[in-house]
Amino acid sequence: MPGISARTSEHLAARMRGALGPATRGVLPAGTRGALGALLAASAAACGGGHVPLPGLPASTVGDTTGLVARGEYIVRNVAVCGHCHAADPRRDADGPLSGGMEFRDWRLGTIRAANLTPDAATGLGEWSDAEVVRAIRNGERRDGAVLAPVMPYEALHAMSDRDALAVARYLRTLSPATHRVKSDHNLMFRIGELFFLGPLKGTTATAPARGATPAYGAYLALHVALCSDCHTPHTGLRSRPDEDRLFAGTDDPPKGFPANPSNLTPDSATGIGAWSEDDFLRTMRTGVNPKGDTLHPFMPWREYRRMTDDDLRAIYRYLRTVPPVRNAVPRRAPAAG
Ligand code: HEC
Ligand code: HEC
Repeated sequence: MPGISARTSEHLAARMRGALGPATRGVLPAGTRGALGALLAASAAACGGGHVPLPGLPASTVGDTTGLVARGEYIVRNVAVCGHCHAADPRRDADGPLSGGMEFRDWRLGTIRAANLTPDAATGLGEWSDAEVVRAIRNGERRDGAVLAPVMPYEALHAMSDRDALAVARYLRTLSPATHRVKSDHNLMFRIGELFFLGPLKGTTATAPARGATPAYGAYLALHVALCSDCHTPHTGLRSRPDEDRLFAGTDDPPKGFPANPSNLTPDSATGIGAWSEDDFLRTMRTGVNPKGDTLHPFMPWREYRRMTDDDLRAIYRYLRTVPPVRNAVPRRAPAAG
């Protein structure tokens, strides 16, 4: 199968977005656009869908699990916002049980449903090892070796640190098991892709920069854990890759399913957040109200992010100060919504 042309990939992206439609409005297809990138990147990275070796994980050998579950809860609920897709009813309660079911329809993938992440043995992750969960999150490989549909944002999560990814796996294990069989109906297109070009991302091992209110740690969060760049960076080109020259520049032409335009977060003073103080940023992230007084649409997961620590939010702000300013006026589209 030859590569996917720009036109086709745009089409796919458009369909993916369109498919999110009214039923999923207001919830996050955060991975969707990056997702397409992942699909295509995967095609380059792994021909024929080779299997990714299970990662070696620090605590599985050391056995030091101090604080791991709490760390995992923090990431799942406040930073990586897994509940936006995996909660039982993401639109109403992203903090609810992670028993899955949310549907994404796309003609090239099929009907993809966010999985049950609770430790139910028959229908959830009960039988999965930590390493298998980590591999699913970072590489997009399911326990049985199949590749996950790139709606799951494994490209963005690819560089999540070993320890943080393990923490996520450990936290999921503490959830109350919910019996809820969720199955994606991957279609023929997906199967063909799987045979020829679609495979999991390469194996990885990653460490996070030291925690603290530093640009380096902020970059780690904004790029690899909190999915900020996934929504706020426009995607471009043959592979619908994030546009490196317009990192965090926002866009007035987001995927169709987006109910609001992701803002320009670069330090441009006229069109970005260059004029915002650190406190303005923290206040916006905590209250969902920006310095102009606009209430942000909940599609921007501020209701989860507001629980991040001061240090983490400051780190993200400090990192955003270091990205090149891009002049790009992004009109707000959404009226305030609840
Ligand atoms: C943008 C939506 C979205 C987000 C955000 C998201 N996921 Fe997923 N995830 C999915 C979808 C959809 C699938 C199913 C893909 C398929 O069936 O091919 C999935 C599959 C998975 C699987 C494989 C489970 C199985 O039974 O096959 C795991 C594990 C997982 N996600 C964990 C997570 C964790 C942990 C987070 C947060 C760090 C997360 N996901 C964030 C959409 C999402
Ligand atoms: C699911 C997509 C998505 C993710 C993930 C996301 N955002 Fe947003 N963000 C948006 C959208 C859309 C808006 C515009 C909301 C509106 O117009 O009401 C927005 C608005 C904002 C604003 C307000 C800017 C202004 O000028 O008013 C800030 C600040 C912001 N986001 C920061 C972040 C940070 C930091 C992260 C990661 C921690 C993040 N966003 C992750 C979609 C997202």
